[in-house]
Amino acid sequence: MVKMETAELETDLSLFKYDNLEQLPPRYRDLEAEERTERIEAALEELGDDVVILGHNYQRREIVEHADFVGDSYQLSKEAAEADAEYVIFGGVTFMAESADIITDDDQTVILPSMEASCPMAGMAEALQVDSAWAEITAAAPDADIIPITYMNSYADLKAFCASQGGLVCTSSNAHKAFEYAFEKGDKVLFLPDKHLGENTAHRLDMEDEIVQWDPWDPEGKDADEVAESDIILWDGYCQVHERFQVEHIEAIRDEHPDVNVVVHPECRREVVEAADVVGSTATICETVENADPGEKWAIGTEIHLTNHLQRWHPEVEVLPLCGDACMDCNAMRQIDPNYLTWVLEELVEGRERNVIEVAPEEKELAEVALDRMLEI
Ligand code: 13P
Ligand code: SF4
Repeated sequence: MVKMETAELETDLSLFKYDNLEQLPPRYRDLEAEERTERIEAALEELGDDVVILGHNYQRREIVEHADFVGDSYQLSKEAAEADAEYVIFGGVTFMAESADIITDDDQTVILPSMEASCPMAGMAEALQVDSAWAEITAAAPDADIIPITYMNSYADLKAFCASQGGLVCTSSNAHKAFEYAFEKGDKVLFLPDKHLGENTAHRLDMEDEIVQWDPWDPEGKDADEVAESDIILWDGYCQVHERFQVEHIEAIRDEHPDVNVVVHPECRREVVEAADVVGSTATICETVENADPGEKWAIGTEIHLTNHLQRWHPEVEVLPLCGDACMDCNAMRQIDPNYLTWVLEELVEGRERNVIEVAPEEKELAEVALDRMLEI
């Protein structure tokens, strides 16, 4: 077990949610790939069972190949809950590392190698903003019991807010179950922040006619009468990576490859999901390709790193990016750079903790309730 002391590095970023997070020291900026791999492996050898690395499916190859576990948001939260290592290094984005900190024991420390790995969609529903919208929404439907559900892609304070109002968290793999849970307890659902996942889930439950959208940035985008009449209120957030996919991409790839199958993530627009053959979380996308027969063709509508991993992991299947060169990588996920991984591991070997994600105690307890409700459904 390593003995810890914390040393400060200079950082000029004050806007970031965690002001203890530090930038990469210059000596780590230009490491050669081979040397870096050797150093990561040496540090991991030294740290042994003290460290576990969790990697989201969208992480770069150089992170995924060092991860003890690679998976979707739901699987990673379960892995974090079961991990008994002293340090959980999270290859993912801030909200995922926050969830890991909430779920793990108090004597475990969660490290997010790069401080800039923040999901823009999570930033589209800030707890303060939701709190004031909540007052307007509940006033519009005073007799209704509204249950807020937040997608995992949100910050801990919003998860805590949802728990305080009887709500919970969901991921892309269990959103339909969270809606069912909410409708057993109440009359209406407020779903945040991803309107596309919300719409796709409503469709899955045959409740598409029950939707109203709530645009917190547009005074015209909120209609109290419609809120009173609708069972599902969708916050107007979205993922800019998944919103990019269009039905035309599916049509074009089917024209070019008549035998292609299409699998997309439920953060894609409703019409894209409708046109695809299969929809599901990143774990479902992985399973779909894993279970494909040799020679089958699959076009993947999600973040490009996962498509590239699938091409590599399953050379017997023809894996194609759904929108060719226009397919985007997630800028937030890309911030977890192998140089940062080398740095945080070598610092741990020296007894120093870097880029620790520690959710404020007042948020932690309630956010845990929201996550526990999800893990139970
Ligand atoms: P999954 O829950 O499917 O892993 O997706 C997380 C995510 O951020 C998708 O953009
Ligand atoms: Fe956020 Fe989209 Fe990136 Fe997922 S792919 S982490 S939702 S920006």
